[in-house]
Amino acid sequence: MKPANYIQLAKEAQARALAPYSGFRVGAVLISASGKTYQGCNVENSSYSLTCCAERVAMFKAVSEGDREFTDLYLCGDAPEYTYPCGACRQVLLDLGGSDLKIHLIHSNGTFKTVTVGDLLPLSFNASHLRKP
Ligand code: THU
Repeated sequence: MKPANYIQLAKEAQARALAPYSGFRVGAVLISASGKTYQGCNVENSSYSLTCCAERVAMFKAVSEGDREFTDLYLCGDAPEYTYPCGACRQVLLDLGGSDLKIHLIHSNGTFKTVTVGDLLPLSFNASHLRKP
């Protein structure tokens, strides 16, 4: 699939956002090494802190389906220009996707720019820091 198709999938996911409290809609598409796609949108909760971001919804869907290797994630949101992943999502994307996972940030004008998770979360805490049992 071409970037334009993935952007379309991200926007479709964004349209399904459940965001009655913030009114801020986010859509993500995660692509696995085998080419499968997983869409995610933010799902808010009346107990606000239980809200789950679009990126984590997409990642947890994928992992729960058995996928473990990912190459790209497309992200769009209601911010005036780019919507960047929050800190919690950066950590989850790093742990489950690795620092080379490409993040394509979709601008509100339809173009996109690409960074890696490593760019977004340098000097990270990660599995290599945990003492083995
Ligand atoms: N949100 C995401 O879905 N992803 C992010 O990385 C940033 C924030 C959502 C959470 C909440 O529903 C709304 O955007 C406003 O913070």
